Amino acid sequence: MELKDLLISAEKRVNEFHEFQKLGLICNNGDYIPAGIHYPQITQYPAIDHDEMYKGYTFPADGMIDVYVHFPFCSKRCMFCHYPSLYGNNDNIKDRYIDALEKEMDIYLKKFNLEKIKLRVALIGGGTPTDLTTKQLERFLKIFTTKCDMSKTRQFNYDVSPHTLIGDIGLERLQILKDYGVNRLTIGIQSMDEKVLKLMNRPHNKKEALEAIKNSMNMGFETDIEFIYGFPGQTIESWYEELKQIVQIDANEYQFYRLMVDAFGDRQGLIKQYHENHPEESINPDNIIKMKQMVFDYLGSYGLKENIRRVFTRKKSCISLYAFNQCCRGLDQVGFGLTGFSSLRDRFVLNTKDFDTYYKMIDDGKLPYDRGYVRDSIAQQRWAIILPLKNYFIKKSRYKEVTGIDIEKTIFYPIIQQLKGYGFIEETDEIVKLTDKGVFFSDDIVLLFYETKFIPKGRELFNDGPLNPYSITSFTK
Ligand SMILES: C[S@@+](CC[C@H](N)C(=O)[O-])C[C@H]1O[C@@H](n2cnc3c(N)ncnc32)[C@H](O)[C@@H]1O
Ligand code: SF4
Repeated sequence: MELKDLLISAEKRVNEFHEFQKLGLICNNGDYIPAGIHYPQITQYPAIDHDEMYKGYTFPADGMIDVYVHFPFCSKRCMFCHYPSLYGNNDNIKDRYIDALEKEMDIYLKKFNLEKIKLRVALIGGGTPTDLTTKQLERFLKIFTTKCDMSKTRQFNYDVSPHTLIGDIGLERLQILKDYGVNRLTIGIQSMDEKVLKLMNRPHNKKEALEAIKNSMNMGFETDIEFIYGFPGQTIESWYEELKQIVQIDANEYQFYRLMVDAFGDRQGLIKQYHENHPEESINPDNIIKMKQMVFDYLGSYGLKENIRRVFTRKKSCISLYAFNQCCRGLDQVGFGLTGFSSLRDRFVLNTKDFDTYYKMIDDGKLPYDRGYVRDSIAQQRWAIILPLKNYFIKKSRYKEVTGIDIEKTIFYPIIQQLKGYGFIEETDEIVKLTDKGVFFSDDIVLLFYETKFIPKGRELFNDGPLNPYSITSFTK
């Protein structure tokens, strides 16, 4: 497709965007609110007492758990990143951290009287969990796979940065991952534009990124590659050039993130300051909408469809089961490591973001969490709409299982009906899902189900229209 053709459909989206701003659905200044990944978002969890957190918690009947392990180490700090990490070579610190992870898993096993975790799906992320020596990587994987029963594990994911997968040492790391059963890699490519990669302060260039993807594909890993749009320095024309290169890459999945400037993780990224210091380089929201529509149309013309939000694949089956279980099914997931989080049906727990506190709590024999939230019935009903509606679809039978109530009987059902009237939602006897129009504005739509105290942007930013998230939910207070 030519750029001029892509721009026809992109302009139409921009018109819709303005129309929905008038209705109060989208911030007037075009600010982006990434919603429906966690509810509430990570930065909003209050401190929690240890006993309170697990009061009334029942272990899943089938005993199966998804596990996330976080490695807070990177070679350098990327400008867009909102996660706390340590940078550079810290071999001793990494050894100590792996020791602590081992103890943390032991504390968990003891708490639930388990010999091993019956692992459904694993995700090892960060940070850069492959930014380890081969010896450290192998040591961690040995510990991890010893503490998990992997006989029924369906997917073993690693989130990695390309510079750790290249050259001889990169190939050695890939072999170790393979030997321990890892079968899916998500590689943060971020951009195909050398200038943008430099400004992002990424630890790799384009050539290295392509080498990493090739190595991963050659060794038989299901390979997911990630990109960011809306970053300073990108233009509509340069984004078109990036997309042309992206579709030529042989990968299984292509993931597109709109740049988030405000922190959604545990530390504000440098990008906010950069935007403040260089306002002339921030990309106009209309152009960001165009870039997003270009992804749908251009990738679509190559047979790549958005099968779970943000993720474009040729086959529906190629998705992260970890993300699917978290967002669409609401299954129990346990997080280990600094800032690791656990999502346990009606509750959410976050590990500390402070290294000293992390080590101290583990030395004291405690799970290292310090924030969390046990949802009451109404909050649970919101959560069970927000996550699956945003990311995939709501399965009515699953909704009842996780909330105890039929979706037709929730106080939120009238909002669903209202959104059907606007053409954002469709419903059958089994499911509720976003239409194509709804999918494009999914973040804004699911915000309509948020409790107002958790809406991350102020009321003054929204028009007083019928879809203003502050007024639409006021009757549910
Ligand atoms: C949890 S991050 C881990 C990234 C991984 N450590 C790496 O460096 O490739 C997962 C993905 O989120 C996206 N991401 C991270 N920060 C972002 C931001 N501020 N705005 C938009 N997307 C972002 C990036 O595409 C990134 O690869
Ligand atoms: S984006 Fe990835 S590599 Fe970059 S600082 Fe963040 S976690 Fe580290």
